[in-house]
Amino acid sequence: MFDLIIIGGGPAGYLAAERAGHAGLKTCLYEMRSLGGVCLNEGCIPSKALLHSAKMYEYALHGSSYGVTAQDVHLDHAAVVKRRGKVVKTLVSGVGAKMKGAGVTVIKEQAKIAGRVEGGFRVVSASGEQTAKRLLIASGSVPVMPPIPGLREHYASGFVLTNREVLELDQVPAKLTIIGGGVIGLEMGAYYSVAGSQVTVIEMLDHIAGPTDGEIRTMLLKEYQKKGVTFLLGHKVTGVADGQVLCEDPSGKPVSVAADKVLCSIGRRAQYQDLGLETIGVETYRGGIVTDSQGRTNVENVYAAGDVNGHHMLAHTAYRESEVAINTMLGKKDRMRYAANPSVIYTKPEVAGVGYTEEGAKEEGIEYEVKKLSMRYAGRFVAENEGGDGLCKVLVDKVHRNIIGVHMIGGYASEIIWGAAEMIESQLRVKDAKEIIFPHPTVSEIIREVIWEFPD
Ligand code: NAI
Repeated sequence: MFDLIIIGGGPAGYLAAERAGHAGLKTCLYEMRSLGGVCLNEGCIPSKALLHSAKMYEYALHGSSYGVTAQDVHLDHAAVVKRRGKVVKTLVSGVGAKMKGAGVTVIKEQAKIAGRVEGGFRVVSASGEQTAKRLLIASGSVPVMPPIPGLREHYASGFVLTNREVLELDQVPAKLTIIGGGVIGLEMGAYYSVAGSQVTVIEMLDHIAGPTDGEIRTMLLKEYQKKGVTFLLGHKVTGVADGQVLCEDPSGKPVSVAADKVLCSIGRRAQYQDLGLETIGVETYRGGIVTDSQGRTNVENVYAAGDVNGHHMLAHTAYRESEVAINTMLGKKDRMRYAANPSVIYTKPEVAGVGYTEEGAKEEGIEYEVKKLSMRYAGRFVAENEGGDGLCKVLVDKVHRNIIGVHMIGGYASEIIWGAAEMIESQLRVKDAKEIIFPHPTVSEIIREVIWEFPD
């Protein structure tokens, strides 16, 4: 009998397996597709490979602003996609090596919970049955495909794509129409517009980028519009037909958008339906598996972590949730805190944020003070971004004087934001944050500059 069976080998599952294995738990990990899950195989990592190529191409195209000229610059999409495959392969084998290093038994089959045995649980797959004292369910999420007329039929025909297929297109579509202006839509829209597609984003809300700070998402929208991306905000999709997406504008007037390919990126939903949860009575809700702040489900010794709990659907959140679950199994005191959970949109410019946005703070009635500065206050940003601009905003709790939100657009926002997360996590007060020495010159110094705008 294993000490722990983990179902799902994405970020939540493989990290949990690694931590558990190293902690001495006899661990078995089931993965029905490829180790690394959606993040590594068809999400975070391959999309970053594509976006990096787009960034390099843009730098080469505009090199003359920096005194560097190149002739015949072009983006070879097939080569970009090939490199993406290489990156994924390298990292997937890295996860495999980590599992080996942690002594984890990996079974590459679909697992289903089949009930209880004395002192544990039964899990079955094509090759037989395994038992374990504990279970961790980390089965992730799948794209939402709403019952919009024609959507599913056109997905079957290859006209409509999800995050998986859009990363594998062998040709750049002349017209790419994207349903949903969230993270996936924006990241993929960024790559394909640079690669040559005429991109149109249809978004139901009156803004893009979901819960991102309002001012920052407006700046991002303008950057996209400068690149020639069209946005239909406040538009409701009513159908997908051959070569077009049908929608209604805010006044209800029908609009048709021509497309060679359609990306459906309107969110993801937890994947927990076919796991046999009912055989042991695990409680679920519409969004996923119900867990407490330690990853425990209602069934003793059964845990869940990552997208399947329906909370944040971010790989880095999944990492932490799985660590909390393993620590709890090991009797170590730990719990999930989401207040300092960063979010990033890896476009050019990058967007990153952590903690309260102004909109969020207002909604919760938190009294805050806000200061902001253009990224051009950071010397390195100016040196490296000819004509570019960005913004950094910091929110401080008016009463306690601690930092409660940091939001940025521009530069290496994705690489900087963890420092801001640390300030929020440790409830750092303005007075103390002012004492931090930032390396100079770096784009990160913008946070220090904004913090110094506040009185202690
Ligand atoms: P999302 O939730 O980020 O965005 C979906 C967007 O679609 C929303 O703006 C929503 O208003 C819109 N929408 C919903 N129904 C619609 C309709 N019928 N017509 C038009 N618009 C509609 O979801 P997305 O982009 O699919 O991403 C899925 C998940 O993957 C997210 O939870 C995200 O956290 C994660 N992800 C994270 C990334 C990152 O951290 N950089 C990158 C890619 C994905």
